[in-house]
Amino acid sequence: MKGLLLAGGYGTRLRPLTFTGNKHMIPVANKPILLYGLGHLRDAGIRDVAIVLGPVREGIQEVVGDGSSFGLRMTYIHQGEPKGLAHAVQCAREFLADSPFVMYLGDNLLQAGVRPFVRTFETEHPDAVIGATPVPEPRHYGVVELDGDRIVSIEEKPAHPKSNLALVGVYLFTPSVFEVIDHLRPSARGELEITEAIAGLIRAGRRVRVERVEGWWKDTGLPADLVEANDRVLATLTPGELPVHGEIRPGARVTGHVGLGRGTVVDAGAEIEGPAILGEDVRVGPGTRIGPGTAIGSGAVLTGCSVRRSILLDRVRIEGPVRLVDSIVGRDVTVRATRPSESEAQIVVGDAARILL
Ligand code: DAU
Repeated sequence: MKGLLLAGGYGTRLRPLTFTGNKHMIPVANKPILLYGLGHLRDAGIRDVAIVLGPVREGIQEVVGDGSSFGLRMTYIHQGEPKGLAHAVQCAREFLADSPFVMYLGDNLLQAGVRPFVRTFETEHPDAVIGATPVPEPRHYGVVELDGDRIVSIEEKPAHPKSNLALVGVYLFTPSVFEVIDHLRPSARGELEITEAIAGLIRAGRRVRVERVEGWWKDTGLPADLVEANDRVLATLTPGELPVHGEIRPGARVTGHVGLGRGTVVDAGAEIEGPAILGEDVRVGPGTRIGPGTAIGSGAVLTGCSVRRSILLDRVRIEGPVRLVDSIVGRDVTVRATRPSESEAQIVVGDAARILL
């Protein structure tokens, strides 16, 4: 079994935030989103994994390298223009050769990982395994309509969904999928759609199994999804995964599960309520309050502010009596508040911005 991790695409919905590098490297609980997918593939026993890269590829190869530090053998495939998920598979044809493979969309977080998909494949030997889970707004996703275990229809982002079952971003295919992909034409949005490849497999009489996904699943396409994913991942981390290397000065209050990186200092008069994670060399100054669901990158400095349920990237500075919630703050951003605000503020901003309140 091989693995294919997709990290092409522009991430158009996050692009206005001007984060440097590839959007799949945005941290969730201080770990790039992409590494969760890689970890899940490895945990399912997969060793040979290719990452499909698109036009914005900065940051990925530098961190993942040859994969040896993750227990993987990595290959990189350049898709060029993101012409669809099925196009990405086509680009990986030489790497995949005649092996079955798990395709993982690099912006997805799936609590259950990919083991259930592999298990179903090994016990039932279908031609493909897809994952589905009920969602409140199915029209944003691929939607599958079922009659018992039989797939009645499968559509990409339908205006009028026939069910509430969304396709999650993990798929298992045998090489039979190439027979269908070779005959696909671009959809109305100009992409070779993986949903159409799956529909084609079914039409050709191939066996496609639907795996009901247990636990939570997040497609981190939108900033609000990232904040929620961060909150959920933090809530599931064990104390062992949130080690305290930093210093909690007398007079500081730290409760719940809170990870502190090396060189991080929590000053007297500061308060942190977990679950939260702070990277290395962070300074939490007096009068600062950090609430649950917060991840703060390395080198950040916070004084006299309050932050909860937010993602702060490396070297963020927040000074003064601002109260942030549900925020994503890019690298090297400064937020300076001179007057106390009446209500909590939500800031979603890319790298290197300066905000004076
Ligand atoms: O997240 C689940 C959904 O993912 C499914 O329900 C949909 O059926 C499926 O089409 C997909 O929809 P999205 O609109 O979320 O796909 P997106 O364009 O965001 O791309 C998903 C990932 O694949 C993302 O990590 C970027 C990567 N990608 C995307 C395209 C279009 C590529 O590597 N190459 C591409 O050409």
